[in-house]
Amino acid sequence: MSKASASGKIILFGEHAVVYGRPAIAVPVSHVRAQASVHATHDDEVTIDAPDIARAFALRDAPDDDPLATIIRLTCAQFQVAPRGFRVQVRSTIPVARGLGSGAAVSVAVARALADFFAREVSREEISALAYEVERLHHGTPSGIDNTVIAFEQPVYFVRGRTVSPTRTEQTGMETAKGENVRESRIESFHVARPFTMIIADTGVPALTKVAVGDVRRAWEQNRDEYETMFNHIGTLAHNARVMIEQGANEELGGLMTVNQTWLTLLGVSSPEIQTLVDAAMNAGARGAKLSGGGRGGNVIALVDEVTQDNVMRAMRSAGARDVMVTRVG
Ligand code: PMV
Repeated sequence: MSKASASGKIILFGEHAVVYGRPAIAVPVSHVRAQASVHATHDDEVTIDAPDIARAFALRDAPDDDPLATIIRLTCAQFQVAPRGFRVQVRSTIPVARGLGSGAAVSVAVARALADFFAREVSREEISALAYEVERLHHGTPSGIDNTVIAFEQPVYFVRGRTVSPTRTEQTGMETAKGENVRESRIESFHVARPFTMIIADTGVPALTKVAVGDVRRAWEQNRDEYETMFNHIGTLAHNARVMIEQGANEELGGLMTVNQTWLTLLGVSSPEIQTLVDAAMNAGARGAKLSGGGRGGNVIALVDEVTQDNVMRAMRSAGARDVMVTRVG
């Protein structure tokens, strides 16, 4: 039997703007994980068992856009092996549709387990590229930050590749004239000079990243100048945050997070539930708080120190947070 796992993730700065070529910062959340195992079987079938989402099915019956089937098909195609004679089991402790990267983590874990099963060496870049293809099923224009931070499992400063097009040179990084994605993204790992603590609090509202990304896209199409300006502000925040993290100026980070939250609200991806948790965290002494991921629901993150941590957790719970976790960055 072959086994592998992959972490969850949070985006600290720059979600949404990252789709449009601005930098973003994401970090792994290693204590929530997706796990995959692959067992040899004695028939020609490939079966998939994902009890946490109540799914059990045969690969041959799965539609083309099924994420679990897709990562198996793509990984086998990459290894030039026929998918047959094994069973894949997937388990995960990463909440689904909460901005914690559960989809990308499942893809990475499955690709890694299959690599082990077929005794292949695969780089983190290759695993990330396979997971990226599945992310495209979840929403058509993913920046690639989720699969990257999860495949590398380290803090990343990520800049999506720019469009290279004979007819268009927009900063959307979306497609060539032929409609193909061009991915020459820049992935930089960076040094966390002084570890810091984030509270991750779940609004309890599941939200599809695809919907929020689509709404931002439509708004951007109608008002490009305004949205480009907002993306620039968010990109600058992500850039400055990296400098602060590298210098160990953690106290400054909170303010940047709160400003980022304001821009996300103006982009239209916050929600009353998110704002309630942000306000509760700030009133209880957090240094900064914002949504993390696609928004509209999902998780709120809050920067805390030792003195405020328990208070902030309590306040976010009282304000309606479903699950509250603590993660240490660095
Ligand atoms: O909701 P998540 O965790 O998948 O994060 C999405 C981040 C976005 O910037 C909104 C989209 C993207 O592809 O980067």
